[in-house]
Amino acid sequence: MDGSLAGRRIVLGVCGGIAAYKAVEVCRRLIDAGAHVVPVLTKGATRFVGTVTFSALASEPAQTELFGAADPIPHTRLGQSADLVLVAPATARVIGCYAHGISNDLLTNTLLATRAPVLLAPAMHTEMWEHPSVRDNVALLSRRGVHLVGPAEGRLAGGDVGAGRLADPADIALAAARVLAGVTRDLVGLTVLVTAGGTREPIDPVRFVGNRSSGKQGHAIADEAAARGARVVLVTTVERPVAPKVEVIRVATAAEMESAVLARAADADVVVMAAAVADFRPKAVAPEKIKKDEGLPEIVLEPTPDILAALGRAKRPGQTLVGFAAETTDVAANAAGKLRRKGLDLIVANDVSAPQAGFEHDTNHVVVLDADGVATDVPLMDKRGVARAVLDAVLARRGRTTREERDERE
Ligand code: C5P
Repeated sequence: MDGSLAGRRIVLGVCGGIAAYKAVEVCRRLIDAGAHVVPVLTKGATRFVGTVTFSALASEPAQTELFGAADPIPHTRLGQSADLVLVAPATARVIGCYAHGISNDLLTNTLLATRAPVLLAPAMHTEMWEHPSVRDNVALLSRRGVHLVGPAEGRLAGGDVGAGRLADPADIALAAARVLAGVTRDLVGLTVLVTAGGTREPIDPVRFVGNRSSGKQGHAIADEAAARGARVVLVTTVERPVAPKVEVIRVATAAEMESAVLARAADADVVVMAAAVADFRPKAVAPEKIKKDEGLPEIVLEPTPDILAALGRAKRPGQTLVGFAAETTDVAANAAGKLRRKGLDLIVANDVSAPQAGFEHDTNHVVVLDADGVATDVPLMDKRGVARAVLDAVLARRGRTTREERDERE
């Protein structure tokens, strides 16, 4: 972690969920990194962990009361003086209140009274996390620029398994550092190669075999990576606006995409294959337009080169490879298989049959799986928000790998 936490004033909001006990670890990590931490516990949080625990660890005593405290206006003072408000765990109630401007306790008041960046680490049962009202509230907050870390998939209270588990405390502290460092610059020094759009495989000079990919998601990733300071190379099949700083290489077929990508992959730190590359192409391309009156043509297909699998085989240490899996059935299982087969670090799985998600839409709902089995559920939101979440997952993965390499060396 860099020094961006040192000396920064962080209000650590803790809500009433079983994951509240992990907020103690978050608090300790922030303190260890030199932050000034002010814990604010909801009434529910105090049912799971005592204020004494936080008061003993943090920089100031834990606060719980809107009224009756020594300070008559704690909510405005806390909100105004914070460099960051971090809520971990964030429950459905607090997310809902924050999204809709309802202030009914010290934490929700502080959230509404601050102009500092806000980072939420949601944690709740899968049924609650997947409820449309929670999804909408999270998407609304994300559109307003609120930062999110997690939730991950895994074991939940009561023995259930699913999406909604609080992100790892180390990842929460890392995300807080990134927000404070200015999210716009956290990719400086990295070269990111992105592919976008569907390939077109010619049948004859006027016809092709194609797919419904619009390139919107890949272009959003290129834009977001450029905004965050990366050097970005975009290999795309579509004519669609992209940030001026991005180097654009236009291609049409899988073979053209393959040569463009392989030529540029060696100096990329991160490769995101968001393109929908055709899996099959006509074996022979008719040199002239096939005439209707010549009868029904027979088009023989052959496989295209699997670019991502080739990248997986050629992957160098320190390179992060991200694939996409557009599925209509068994999304998570198919994506996990693909991740292993292609030697990827991360795979972004989307159910393209779901409403408002996948091809052509402006919004998307994805699950990001990493090679260690960490799964992050990204609820329905605009494709720029999804791009942000994918790049956050890339950085989390790179952070984890660096930590592991360092631990191995020590
Ligand atoms: O195996 P499948 O085609 O479903 O995998 C999808 C992922 O693999 C996407 O990231 C896509 O860009 C990539 N891909 C590829 N070359 C192909 C087919 C898919 O790189 N020929």
